[in-house]
Amino acid sequence: MTDIPVLEITNVEKHFGGLVALDSVNAAVESGKLTAIIGPNGAGKTTLFNVITGILPASAGQLKFQGQDITRKSAHEISRLGLARTLQIKSVFNGMTVRENLWIAAQSRDGVFKPFQRASKSKRANETADRICEELGLSALANQEASNLSYGDIALLEIGLALATEPKLLLLDEPICGMGPAETEQTVAKIQELAKRIDIVIIEHDIEVVFDISEDIIVMNLGQILARGTPKEIASNVAVRAAYLGDDDA
Ligand SMILES: Nc1ncnc2c1ncn2[C@@H]1O[C@H](COP(=O)(O)OP(=O)(O)OP(=O)(O)O)[C@@H](O)[C@H]1O
Ligand SMILES: [Mg+2]
Repeated sequence: MTDIPVLEITNVEKHFGGLVALDSVNAAVESGKLTAIIGPNGAGKTTLFNVITGILPASAGQLKFQGQDITRKSAHEISRLGLARTLQIKSVFNGMTVRENLWIAAQSRDGVFKPFQRASKSKRANETADRICEELGLSALANQEASNLSYGDIALLEIGLALATEPKLLLLDEPICGMGPAETEQTVAKIQELAKRIDIVIIEHDIEVVFDISEDIIVMNLGQILARGTPKEIASNVAVRAAYLGDDDA
């Protein structure tokens, strides 16, 4: 782990017409620390991920990934540098098996998807797919169609699709949204395991999970960073309690 922040966000703004979705956001994400972003609906969390990953251009400001300026790079270039994300809305191919989903994601790392390319590349994608199945505990389900998976296993497959690009930094947008306790536990355990080898930033509404797994919490509200700190600091932050945790006593 180096001293350079894995991600540096400097005065980043995003405007949608007259709406200011990101209002001069400044934050550095430290390597080796599981970072969480919390905040009410519409705070700008997903927009921040979209701007970081080049899906949307920033209206102003600068983004650096591992010290390299990525502000004006395309989503594909940013992905190739090792920055991956999952979507808030699940995006697996239902008619394909777990392995096929992962194979396609692994292939796409090397450029435009070409089904009839050299066998060696296809073999490498097979190996990647199998390795990710193993890592996420999906090997027994590798030949199952995604449409047959439980909600928790779909969430793991989503994470797997992002892992297929071999990221150094992984952004997860509400990975446990809509899950019951058992599925939440399974997914959270995998995320914690992954965080040992890659940097992770997670957007999450479940505050108990956030306090449990993250080492650094960024609180957003109205397109701005309202607070930043350890779970302990955030839990006792008066402004956060008033604005986000709905604590009348704050
Ligand atoms: N593509 C877009 N075009 C126009 N407005 C957008 C677009 N994307 C987001 N917004 C607006 O920007 C604001 C921030 O939205 P964003 O999705 O980033 O919030 P969020 O913090 O992820 O919320 P949630 O917790 O509900 O997912 C909202 O007012 C939203 O309506
Ligand atoms: Mg969102």
